[in-house]
Amino acid sequence: MADSPKSSTDAAADSLAEFADREALKYQSFELADGQKTEGHDRSYLNDVIFSDDLTGKRVLDIGCFLGFFCVESARRGALATGIEPDRECARQAAEITRLQGLDAEIICGDFETLDFGEDRFDVILCLNVLHHMYDAIGAVRKMMALCDERIVIEFAAPNMRDLITGRQSPLAVALNTLPVVMLGSPKRGYDALSRTHMFTGKAMRVLFNSMSNAFEPLEITRSPFKGRLLLHARKRKISHLAVVVGPTSSGKSTLFGKLKDDPAMRARFGLNGGTWHGIHGHDIDLPGGRVDGAIVHYDLLRPYRRSIRTFDRDPRNDLMAVADKVTVITLMPPLKVLKERLIKNELSGFNLKSRKRQKHILKRYEDPGFLKSWYGQWFEFTDGFGDRIVGNHVYVSHGDTETIVPAADWQALFDRQSV
Ligand SMILES: C[S@@+](CC[C@H](N)C(=O)[O-])C[C@H]1O[C@@H](n2cnc3c(N)ncnc32)[C@H](O)[C@@H]1O
Repeated sequence: MADSPKSSTDAAADSLAEFADREALKYQSFELADGQKTEGHDRSYLNDVIFSDDLTGKRVLDIGCFLGFFCVESARRGALATGIEPDRECARQAAEITRLQGLDAEIICGDFETLDFGEDRFDVILCLNVLHHMYDAIGAVRKMMALCDERIVIEFAAPNMRDLITGRQSPLAVALNTLPVVMLGSPKRGYDALSRTHMFTGKAMRVLFNSMSNAFEPLEITRSPFKGRLLLHARKRKISHLAVVVGPTSSGKSTLFGKLKDDPAMRARFGLNGGTWHGIHGHDIDLPGGRVDGAIVHYDLLRPYRRSIRTFDRDPRNDLMAVADKVTVITLMPPLKVLKERLIKNELSGFNLKSRKRQKHILKRYEDPGFLKSWYGQWFEFTDGFGDRIVGNHVYVSHGDTETIVPAADWQALFDRQSV
């Protein structure tokens, strides 16, 4: 009996088997059509985590793709996959394997740390067992955070018992596991310079994603079955409309914030319509997971002043503006005289000594109107950077029964008039 013609999938699988054999492929194992597997680790245990959401049409970036296993898996699920791999031979093999599987993925031979992505962005970023091979691992994580629109999955090396038993780690390193620690390896030979360069504890990752940034939901960290590694899943927050109520201490933020939160008619005056509006006031961000219709943030205009963040764009709280589709800014600007009176009455009698000291200092600075004017100026410059995303930029003045709302573009004239 004549052999039945092979389907194109069989043919591709056959050639993949030949290719794997010929090139002695290792590390990532691929399943062949006959159920056999090529040599290497079975990396498919990560599929459930990585591919939990629909990937159709999503841009997936696989950093350190090696033979392209996750590029193949992403492309199979309808994603537009891009793999980066500095090793030329691996990059060539990844491109060939993808082609042999009849799939389309872009494989870039390059180094994630130095590659300029221009305007490119990605929905899903994978960085699996790669971070500890980088020179600037924290910089790389922050680069991923900036490039990502939806999710980041990182499988990373943490100090663990396995390394203790094999003598790779000291007991001290393992004991530090409960602290936010980033450890540097101590390579003995130059060619091992990038072998286990960095180790992160889970807490260190939480600091990077949830303290030094507000753009991500609380991290999910689980144990990977692979070499005692940890597996981190970070989801970028999605806010349809964000309102920022901003002003210096005692400008009336809390009052306006409360009214906006509780009163739909008040919200409507600023174009904050429909949906559920959540309030963000204080250290913690109490937002549900997934897309949020509306959120109102209470923000102190002088928050960066004399603090390590220094500027508005370095303040993690302002990441919320970066993840919102639309932003409305409501800046409170009471007359300087009123602000000073309120500050003396409300703040300087408080029990918190540290805060009292700070407010006393700020009150002194108010003697020069140029001080506060400069902070308002920096704020409006900062908000201008959000371009079309800012759908409303208002200055709000409330004093006694009078209430004035003027466009932000007119803030300087208003400030000068009110500071005489
Ligand atoms: C241990 S392998 C992990 C392969 C794959 N991500 C996986 O989990 O199956 C590490 C890979 O990261 C690559 N790599 C190391 N430094 C890199 C960098 N700066 N940018 C991109 N890839 C890098 C290495 O060449 C290697 O292919």
